[in-house]
Amino acid sequence: MCLQNRSVLIQNADFQRNDPESLFFGRLIPQFQPSKGSESLSGPLGKLPEALAGTTVAVIGFGNQGFAHALNLRDSGVQVVVGTRKGQTGWKNALEAGLTPVEIAQATAKAELVIVALPDEIHEKLWTSDIQPFLKPSAVVGFLHGFSVHHGLVKAAPEIGIVMVAPKGPGKTLRDRFVSGQGLPALFAVHQGGSNPARTRALALAWAAGIGSARAAIVETTFAHETETDLFGEQTVLCGGVVALMQAAFETLVKAGYPADLAYMECCQELKQITDLIFEKGLAATRHAISNTAEFGGFVAGETLIDDTVKQRMQALLADIRSGAFGKRLHADAAAGFPWLKAQRAAAAGHPIEQAGASVRQWMPWLMQSEKET
Ligand SMILES: NC(=O)c1ccc[n+]([C@@H]2O[C@H](COP(=O)([O-])OP(=O)(O)OC[C@H]3O[C@@H](n4cnc5c(N)ncnc54)[C@H](OP(=O)(O)O)[C@@H]3O)[C@@H](O)[C@H]2O)c1
Repeated sequence: MCLQNRSVLIQNADFQRNDPESLFFGRLIPQFQPSKGSESLSGPLGKLPEALAGTTVAVIGFGNQGFAHALNLRDSGVQVVVGTRKGQTGWKNALEAGLTPVEIAQATAKAELVIVALPDEIHEKLWTSDIQPFLKPSAVVGFLHGFSVHHGLVKAAPEIGIVMVAPKGPGKTLRDRFVSGQGLPALFAVHQGGSNPARTRALALAWAAGIGSARAAIVETTFAHETETDLFGEQTVLCGGVVALMQAAFETLVKAGYPADLAYMECCQELKQITDLIFEKGLAATRHAISNTAEFGGFVAGETLIDDTVKQRMQALLADIRSGAFGKRLHADAAAGFPWLKAQRAAAAGHPIEQAGASVRQWMPWLMQSEKET
């Protein structure tokens, strides 16, 4: 499939087309009928993704993402082995989930597809020590984010396939959606085809289907596009821009003499209602669902706050990401034990917004339960 300047969307609708990839998904679709729970997934509908039949998949790391990939693939009928550090949290959690963990090198040596579900900053080190030397000659290695491959921290011999399946959400959501018969969309890319490019591609698509993403959409992209857009989205909106905006609004109200609980409710807690609407219906329908007062005020304030200078700073952030400078800074801080990140965390934890948030969440006891579970 030719990759041009746009992403290629592979979804259930492609089943209609008469080409080999449609047939591939055609064979997979019966497994992904909506079901009431995980039980039915191992029942008659639980047909093994074709390309993974008779193969072993190693999931390296059993953290946020790893647990969901391992459990979803297992429940899709795939032979899964978990590679993790003996005695650590991931090891214990894998045992509790009914899987048999082994050391990382041992898991790698057993598998045709090796899924690296480890924090990005340790990929380079563990690739060299525990993964690369133990790969089968025809192995395919999968990543969940393009960062380490795109920045050249992980380099593989040409016969090894390198692919990516990046689900668009946290592991807990990936697992919850799968169990409830839905799926999270995932980005998919092939960095190098290895000794058998068709098999490499088929294994990666089967992995994406096996975690439930074919129930939504599998979007083909490149490692470069995934890495750069993911980092940009995290920094400017999801984990940087929105958080800084909420904090600045909270500080403004509190400084002006309003109670902290009230400031938190208005500037942080209510964001969920708006993002849920945007997620389900888009921006225009969200505007329709809010009051005229909120919509009018939103247009006025949006223009005032987000002017061209903000876009210029966004362009600077994008340039910082694309040049690799951001990646180098992250890597240097990680190599030193994250002194800068830890200082930021400590300062953020002491901000009065945290106290206000804890107080507001206590009003909703069901939230306290979900806080204990995470
Ligand atoms: N988190 C997300 O929402 C998300 C979303 C999409 C993609 N991703 C990508 O998914 C990948 C994994 O991220 P994550 O958030 O799932 O990672 P994570 O939860 O922080 O860590 C995963 C595992 O890494 C192991 N680990 C940590 N340091 C180790 C070391 N020095 N040696 C051996 N094992 C070590 C931990 O095992 P122990 O139990 O032994 O400590 C843990 O089980 C990354 O590439 C990330 O970019 C994440």
